[in-house]
Amino acid sequence: MSQPVASPALEPAPPRHVAIIMDGNGRWAKARGLPRNLGHRQGVDAVREVVRACRGLGIQYLTLYAFSSENWKRPQTEVAGLMDLLRLYIRRELNELASAGVRIRVIGDRSRLAADIIELIAEAENRTAENRILTLVIALSYGGQDEIVSACRRIAERVAAGTLDPDRIDADIVAANLHTTGIPDPDLVIRTSGEQRLSNFLLWQSAYSELIFVDKLWPDFGQSDLAAAVGEFQRRDRRYGGSGD
Ligand code: IPE
Ligand code: IPE
Ligand code: MG
Repeated sequence: MSQPVASPALEPAPPRHVAIIMDGNGRWAKARGLPRNLGHRQGVDAVREVVRACRGLGIQYLTLYAFSSENWKRPQTEVAGLMDLLRLYIRRELNELASAGVRIRVIGDRSRLAADIIELIAEAENRTAENRILTLVIALSYGGQDEIVSACRRIAERVAAGTLDPDRIDADIVAANLHTTGIPDPDLVIRTSGEQRLSNFLLWQSAYSELIFVDKLWPDFGQSDLAAAVGEFQRRDRRYGGSGD
C-alpha cells in the first residue's frame, strides 16, 4: 500500500524584484584609514557577488542605486572616481553579464553623464536587450522626484497638445511615463549601512515595497546577506491596505 504523499508546505514566493541602496562605502574606507574611492572600489566586488546570487534566489529584477541626482554635489575627485568605476564595471563585466542572460537597463538623468558613458550604456542595453534570466537595472544620476517631475511634464505636454484628456490620467499613465516603465515595482528594498531612509530612491515604485535595513556597510554585504534578506521578506505579511484575512 502506498502512503499518501504529504504535500510540502507552501513556500512563500521570493521577491521578484529586489532594489538595493548600496550605502556605506565611504565609512568602510574611513574605518580602514583609506580614501573614500577605495571603499567604492571594494563596493564593486559586492555588486558582482550580489548579481551572481540573484538567479539562485529566484530574483528576476535587481535594481542597484549606484549614483543619485544629489551625489553630483560630492567633490569632483570622488564623482570622477565613481564614474571611472562604472566605466570599468561595464567594460569588464559586459561579456559575462551578456552570456549569463542578464539584461541591463539604466535609469536616471543621462544628460548629465559624460558622452563616452552614455555610449557605453547604450551599447550594454542594446547588446543585452533580449536577455531574460535577470534584469539588472542600474540607477545612475537617478532621483525619484526628478523622475516624477519629468513624467508630469510629458503628461502635461500630451494634455496641452490635446491628445490626452486630464480625466484619463491615472496611476498607470504616471507609471508608464517613469524611467521604470515595463519593470515591475520592487517587492523588497534593502538599504545597507544602518541608515533608514530612501534618499530619493524609487519613490513612486516603492509604495508597497517591503523595506529591510541592514547594518552592514555595502562592501561587506554578500550572497548570504542577500539570502537572509530574502528569507526575512518571505516571512513578512504583505497586505496592500487590505485586512489580511
Ligand atoms: C554609497 O556609499 C555609494 C554612493 C553613494 C555612490 P557612500 O559613499 O554614500 O558611503 P558613506 O555613506 O559615506 O559611508
Ligand atoms: C544614497 O546614498 C545613494 C546611493 C547609495 C547611490 P547617499 O549616501 O547618497 O544618501 P544620504 O546622503 O546618506 O541620504
Ligand atoms: Mg552614503
